[in-house]
Amino acid sequence: MEIKRDIKYIGVNDEDLDLFESQYVIKNGVSYNSYLIMDEKVVLMDTVDKRKTNEWLEKLDKELNNKNIDYLVVSHLEPDHSSNIKLIAEKYPNMKIIGTKKMFDMLPQFFDIDLVGRMITVGEGDTISIGKHKLQFFMAPMVHWPEVMVTYDITDKILFSADAFGKFGAIGIKEEWEDEARRYYINIVGRYGGQVQQLLKKASTIDIQTICPLHGPILTENLGYYIDLYDKWSKYVPEKQGVLIAYNSIYGNTRKAVQYLYEQLQDGGIKEIVLTDLARCDISKAVSDAFCYSTLVVACPTHDSGLFPYMDQFLRKLEHKNYQNREVGIIENGSWAPMAGKCMKTILQEMKNITFYEPVVTIKSAMKEENKEQINELAKKIIENVK
Ligand code: FEO
Repeated sequence: MEIKRDIKYIGVNDEDLDLFESQYVIKNGVSYNSYLIMDEKVVLMDTVDKRKTNEWLEKLDKELNNKNIDYLVVSHLEPDHSSNIKLIAEKYPNMKIIGTKKMFDMLPQFFDIDLVGRMITVGEGDTISIGKHKLQFFMAPMVHWPEVMVTYDITDKILFSADAFGKFGAIGIKEEWEDEARRYYINIVGRYGGQVQQLLKKASTIDIQTICPLHGPILTENLGYYIDLYDKWSKYVPEKQGVLIAYNSIYGNTRKAVQYLYEQLQDGGIKEIVLTDLARCDISKAVSDAFCYSTLVVACPTHDSGLFPYMDQFLRKLEHKNYQNREVGIIENGSWAPMAGKCMKTILQEMKNITFYEPVVTIKSAMKEENKEQINELAKKIIENVK
């Protein structure tokens, strides 16, 4: 695949990996992107996961056509991109490695490579000419690891953006960009919104016509759309006015209550509502939905004097990803000593700028008329807020 006449895509798809980073379901696989710039100097932009070394090497060899590699740019040292650094450093002994100081500090933790005379440490705004192309480096710490940098090809106005603007899904898969990009961003980089904002500020000072991320499709058109979504996500502001109802239900009674709420919200004209059973969903999608919508309702039975485990896990994940700036409603269930509401509130109160709908709806086993009235009241307040 050609990005420009002298810039080739040499990344690979991984369509049979069970869990990305050993935790994220990827129903349409993932791509590990790597690029080759064939100028007077030949530059390799990152390597790929060791699962796909052979396929990647074949592509690399074909594009190189017996040429040497002069530089390897390491944008990010996470093994899905760096697994082949040692192999390629041994295969091309004159190749120099370009990266941040932090990257060179961390590299020996992963590989035993003799780096003497081979390191080019770059800092904010540094440039290197490779012939027709001039590359400029911008630091992007914590997007997603501390050693990350992005590379701007000044000549062709291409941003090699590391994990930023990546998505789940193999290249060539037909699916909307935003859902799987959101799930990728929120779960993987979501905690570091401030650092993403810093990177976006830097990006706003350069003319970008193409974004080449380390996962997912190369972005060539309507870049403002993607940048605007990244701006919203990293500012922790809702992307859509709508409601996620995330629940657990042991025997179906809490489910009946949230279904009733769902109907009231629908009748009240709310169009964007997602109802998610946390015991049976992809938890990373539920977390991503929570960030997407302006309102969250959590509903959970009391279990072992606390929360049903899936709700506990969901709320802890929200906390880890810096969930904030949202309105939250609470429905609890408990047959003899309801505790779930208090437990959910305790976790949510630790997050920034969470506003609670009052009162907490308390169901004792099965939903009764008085509970319907409380849910009607909750629905009315949500409708006023969301519409
Ligand atoms: Fe795709 Fe943070 O590595």
